[in-house]
This record gives sequence, structure tokens and C-alpha cells, in this order.
Amino acid sequence: MPVKDVKVPLSRVFSPRNEKYLNKNYIDIVMEEGIPVLCINNDSGKERQMPFKVLYDTNDNFWMQVGSWEYFFSNEDFITIKEKAAKKMADWKARIPKIAEKSDELKEPIDNAGFGSEYQAYAGMSAEEKIKCLKKDKKQLNDLLFQKTNDEAEIAKALVDTTKDAAMINHAVLEEAILLADHEAKRLTQDLVDSTQEMVRSSAQLVSENVFNNDMVNTLVEKSNGTIVQHMTRVYLNGIAFLSFYNNLVSSSSAIKKLRISFTGKYSNYYQKLLPHMRVGDINLERVFYGGMRAIPPELYFKWAVGFLIHDIGKAVAVEYHEGEGSYDRNIVIDHVKQGFKSVMTKTNYPMEAGLITGYHHEYYGNPDGYGYYRTYLQQHKKENPDARIDYCISYDLDPVMNYYALAYFPAKVLEIIDVYDSVTDPHRVYRKAMTSEEALAMMQEEFIKKEYKIDAVLFDIFAMFIREQEKRKKK
Ligand SMILES: [Fe+2]
Ligand SMILES: [Fe+2]
Repeated sequence: MPVKDVKVPLSRVFSPRNEKYLNKNYIDIVMEEGIPVLCINNDSGKERQMPFKVLYDTNDNFWMQVGSWEYFFSNEDFITIKEKAAKKMADWKARIPKIAEKSDELKEPIDNAGFGSEYQAYAGMSAEEKIKCLKKDKKQLNDLLFQKTNDEAEIAKALVDTTKDAAMINHAVLEEAILLADHEAKRLTQDLVDSTQEMVRSSAQLVSENVFNNDMVNTLVEKSNGTIVQHMTRVYLNGIAFLSFYNNLVSSSSAIKKLRISFTGKYSNYYQKLLPHMRVGDINLERVFYGGMRAIPPELYFKWAVGFLIHDIGKAVAVEYHEGEGSYDRNIVIDHVKQGFKSVMTKTNYPMEAGLITGYHHEYYGNPDGYGYYRTYLQQHKKENPDARIDYCISYDLDPVMNYYALAYFPAKVLEIIDVYDSVTDPHRVYRKAMTSEEALAMMQEEFIKKEYKIDAVLFDIFAMFIREQEKRKKK
């Protein structure tokens, strides 16, 4: 049969990999170009051409219906569809501006995703292969949990490798999902959401069980240097290790007692700047943490861990910018939280907690250097309720943040600190020498707490304890 007579079934065009996935992009192109459908009746052998739109308006998956009619595009039209789709994608990517100048990175840390060629290997996997990979990772972590091994190097390697897989696979799937309608995207990402959550559960448990082993966290950070997803891997692993450290600390009543005693001299002035309508004497630890400072229950811990893993997923939209070593562009950087938030909330069934982490992780308590969704919503809320006052700084739960009783969401405040610290201590930065841990802590104290009110003062002090504890272990 000559090539021009080859017919391609619509099911193969729109759902090439599996029936769950529907290529909405192709449907749009077929509509725009007015590409006709060749309808063939299997019983009578009758053929006729119909406008796609007419059939689609009657039934939006008419080609999947069982009956005597089958539907095809000509091979020529199929090639046109593919070409138009590729052009659309290139136009879409080209709309992302590139700017020639580099700016002061300290003011605005850039998350260094550094994908590189290995990313292509993940992007090229089939949907089944991606899920299989995550399942295999989960099994590997569970085996280590079950064996109760003390081999730090083996645990660290497994944690780093599996985190890299999960971060890259999530990125690759989301890059596809953002092109689809919401319900289709959710269908496409459901298996990914389920298997990522399962993997994170095992991984977070393994970190929390081993975080107090001698050199565990240092080994983790060391091992995740030089891998492709350095930033995402380190932030995730450091983030969950910090949460375990935090939980351990606040479970001892003496730590909270100490904070309470030192609060007036050490912190109340800082928090008064955030709660300016309150008298300094009225501000205490209960004003900083809505409902009082407390440990994080396991269910929340796992949800936050997922949020840490996908916190920069919004970079999937401008993957070329974030992949490259191009110049700093604040608009694109800002956009990653918006895209991340929107994608997680509308294109996946990841929990709301993870969505807020992606959307709120650069807020800096409303400081103009920060950016994100919360400030936008808050502005609107204040416009509608001019007398509204926010009496608390940080909430562990969603409701107080979403109803504007608190200024910030706990895991997002934690992530801000970890993100900045990671950015300035990253040894792989091309154009700036990495800071030592003490230099980084001193700089953050000065620039992000003393001069401005960006990261949280109490959480930062706990973070500094966590880092110094790691350093001590390193020296042993
Ligand atoms: Fe980040
Ligand atoms: Fe980010």
C-alpha cells in the first residue's frame, strides 16, 4: 500500500501509550486545522469523510465507542498534526523570555535544578516504566527498613538514588500533564501520585530512623552532590531530616521551656515587626505557633515530605531556563511557584498540603524580595476586610493559613530556610564560591533575620542547631 494511503486509527493518535492518556494538544490542532476523519463501516465496508468537530461535539471520545464504525486520519494528516504540535510546543517555549544580565543572587537565591542529559533518559521512559521504577525504589527502601541495617553509606546511596528517580519522574510526567485538560492530567498523574507517595513514606521513615546515626545526614548531602537533581534531592533529604530533628527536640519539654524563657530578650522584637498591631509584651511562643509549638504527627510529616520533594516542580514549565546556565530572570523564577502551585492543585491529586508548600515556599513573611501566592490572596482578603488582623505567625494546619489567622505555613517556612541554605552552600555553583556552614548561618542571621524579616527566627535557631549537630558528627 502506498504511504499516502496508510490510515492511522484515531485511538493511536490521541492515546498513543495507554487509554488513560488523552493528547488534548492533538485534539486542539485537529479542530483548528479542520482535519477530516475517515469513517469506515466494518459491516458494509462503506467509507465516508466527516468533519472531526461534528463527531466530537456529539461525543468527545467517539473513536473509543464499540460499534460498526471505525475512525481514521490519513497518514498525511497525521504527519501534519505532529508537525503542528511540535511547532506549538516550540512557540510556547520561545515565549519564555531570556535576559542577558546576571543579578545579585544572594538577594534572590536561584534553585539550581541542573537537569542535564540524564533527565532525557527519565523523560523517555514509558508511563509504565516510570511507575515500575518508583515501585522498585520503594521496595529497595523497604528492604533496608526491614533489615535494620546500620550501613550508612548503603542507606545514603539508596535514599539519594531513589529521591533522584522520584524528582525526575515527577518532573517528566508533569511536563506532559500541564498540556492536558485538568481531569485528563489528573488521570495521567494518578499512578505517579500514588507510587510517589508510597515511596516517600518509606524514604521519610528511613531518614527519620537513621537521622541520629553518626554521619548520616552528612553522607546524604555529600552523596547528593554531583548528581543531576542536586538541589531537589538535598532539599528533600535535608528537609525531612530537619523535621525529625525538630520533632525530637520539641518532644522534650525542656527545649520549649528554654525557648519560652529566652523569648522576651531574644525574639519578641523580631515578632513584633511581623505583628505590628500587638504590644510587644503580648507576644509569646503561642503567638508564633498557632495552637502552641508541638511535634509533627506522622501523617502530616509524610504529606510535607511529598511537598518537599516536588516543591520546585513548577520548573517543569520553563525547563529550558532552569536546565541551562542562562542569566537570572526574576519573572521566570517567580513563575515557578505559581506554576508549581497551579499544576499540583489542578493537574494532580497530590494533597493540598503539598500544593501549599509549592506555592508558598518563597514568601519571606511578605518581604518584597519574596514572592508567591499567599501574599496575593492576603492582599485580596485585606481589601475585602480592612479591619482584619493576623494574630499568629505560623500554622501547622491548613485552615488557619487559608483563613488568614496565621501569616505562614509551617513546612513552607522550613523550606525557605533549607532552600536558602542549600543555595549558598552548594559547591556546584558556577559563578560563586560556596559558603561554609558557619558562613551561611551567619549570613542568613544577618541578612534574612536582623536586617529584614524574611525567614523565621525561632525555626532558624533550631535549624542552626541541626546544622551544628551535623558538623560535630562530621568532626568525630
Ligand atoms: Fe528550591
Ligand atoms: Fe523554589
